[in-house]
Amino acid sequence: MPGGDQISGREPRFAPAQQDSTPAQQDSTLPPEANRSVIANSVLSRDWHEAVADSPGPWLFILEGLTMYLHESEVRSLVTDLADRFPGSHVLIETVGPRSDPPGVLQQLRDQRTTGTEFVWSVRRHEQLCRWHPRLELLNTWYVMDYHAEAWPFLVRTLRHLPSVRAQSKIGHFRIAA
Ligand SMILES: C[S@@+](CC[C@H](N)C(=O)[O-])C[C@H]1O[C@@H](n2cnc3c(N)ncnc32)[C@H](O)[C@@H]1O
Repeated sequence: MPGGDQISGREPRFAPAQQDSTPAQQDSTLPPEANRSVIANSVLSRDWHEAVADSPGPWLFILEGLTMYLHESEVRSLVTDLADRFPGSHVLIETVGPRSDPPGVLQQLRDQRTTGTEFVWSVRRHEQLCRWHPRLELLNTWYVMDYHAEAWPFLVRTLRHLPSVRAQSKIGHFRIAA
């Protein structure tokens, strides 16, 4: 996150570790720095919580390109764990929309033949996540198709006004009440 985060004005101290990478691989792509630690663990494990909780807050958690590959129960326990353990923090969550939505160019990303993977969890509205934990508060949702319209194909520029299409690619900003 170049330029520091907007919550504290400081550089972030933790970087995401890929689940399947070794510490050596992580060192080669993300060499340790004074303001960066890499924890090699599944994001679904609770083992890394203590190391982060021991660091001075405030904390910003960014779940980017992740939730669509998990089951709802996994996303839910990840988010509720954060809400239990890190009051006062902020969470950015990228999500895709339900599969039954009208096709868009993003539909091709769902195609296992294209990506070698498959989306699992989706959500239409981020408000639904607030039902998971009483301290979760939705501050904003950014819909990716609302930005850089000139870069999108005509079909997307036209269909993005349908709520179900717009929901295909979005980022939610949540605050966890202290
Ligand atoms: C599509 S990539 C996104 C990478 C990066 N966040 C981005 O947006 O550019 C998905 C990443 O999630 C990682 N991943 C999947 N399940 C994970 C888990 N349980 N714990 C940690 N990382 C996981 C994969 O290793 C992969 O690197």
